[in-house]
Amino acid sequence: MANYGTVLITGANRGLGLEFTRQLAGDADRIIATCRNPARSDELRAMAESSEGKIEVRALEVTDYSQARKLARELGNDPIDLLINNAGILGPRPGNLVQDVDAWRRVFEVNVIAPTKMVEAFADQVAASNRKLIANITSKMGSIADNTSGGAYIYRSSKAALNAVGRSMARDLADRQVTVLLLHPGWVRTDMGGPNGLIDAPTSVAGMKDILDQATLEQSGGFYNYDGASIAW
Ligand SMILES: NC(=O)c1ccc[n+]([C@@H]2O[C@H](COP(=O)([O-])OP(=O)(O)OC[C@H]3O[C@@H](n4cnc5c(N)ncnc54)[C@H](OP(=O)(O)O)[C@@H]3O)[C@@H](O)[C@H]2O)c1
Repeated sequence: MANYGTVLITGANRGLGLEFTRQLAGDADRIIATCRNPARSDELRAMAESSEGKIEVRALEVTDYSQARKLARELGNDPIDLLINNAGILGPRPGNLVQDVDAWRRVFEVNVIAPTKMVEAFADQVAASNRKLIANITSKMGSIADNTSGGAYIYRSSKAALNAVGRSMARDLADRQVTVLLLHPGWVRTDMGGPNGLIDAPTSVAGMKDILDQATLEQSGGFYNYDGASIAW
C-alpha cells in the first residue's frame, strides 16, 4: 500500500522538487506537482504523462496567493497527506554588507511569506488527511548557531525566518495533529546548489523522504538534516 494518499509539491519542475515528484510517485496515490510554467516544464510533463494519471501538473507561482487559494478551492474536500513547500530562491550571490533591498524583499516573499500562505491555504486539507504532514524545505544557512562564516545576509535571514515560522506552524497546528518539519536537503548539486554540491538530488530526497516516512507528531517543529540528524537553531 502507498505510504501517502495525496502529495502537493511546489517548484516541482526542476531540482529537488522534480526529484521529490519522481520518488514520491512510487509511494503515493496522487501527486499534485505545481510549477510556475507547466508549458516550459518538459521533464515534469513527461514524468506526468508516463504516470498513468498519478502525477497532475498544475500552474502555481507561489507568490500569487489567489492562485493558491483557487487551487485549494478546486481540491475541495480532497485530503492532502503531505504538503512540501520546496520552491525557493537564493537571491543575489552572497556578498558583503551592502544589500539590494528589492532583492531582499523578493527572497522573503518567496522563501518565507509564500510557504506560510501555502499552509494557510491548505491547512484544512492537510488536517483532514491520514498522514497530516507539512515539510518546509529550509537550509542550514538559516541556522544562527551554525553561522561561523558570515555573509549571505539575504538567503540566511530568509531561511532563519522560515524556521521561526515553521516552528509557530508546528505549535499552532498541533491540536489538529499536523506534523510540521523543517528539512535541510544538504548541499545538493542542483541549479541552486551548483556543481560543487556534496550530494546529488536523489540522495538528498531519499534521505528527506525517509524522515517524512517515519515522522511523528513529537518531532513537529524540529529542524533536521537530510540524514535525520537534528540541526541547532
Ligand atoms: N540545492 C541546495 O544545495 C540547497 C541547500 C539548502 C536548501 N535548499 C532549498 O531547497 C529548495 C529547492 O532548491 P533546489 O536546489 O531544487 O533549487 P533550484 O534547482 O533552483 O529549483 C528551485 C525551484 O523553485 C521554483 N521557484 C522559485 N521561485 C518560485 C516561485 N515564485 N513560484 C513557484 N516556484 C518557484 C523554481 O521554479 P522555476 O523553474 O520556475 O524558477 C524551481 O522549481 C529551496 O527551497 C532551496 O532554498 C537547496
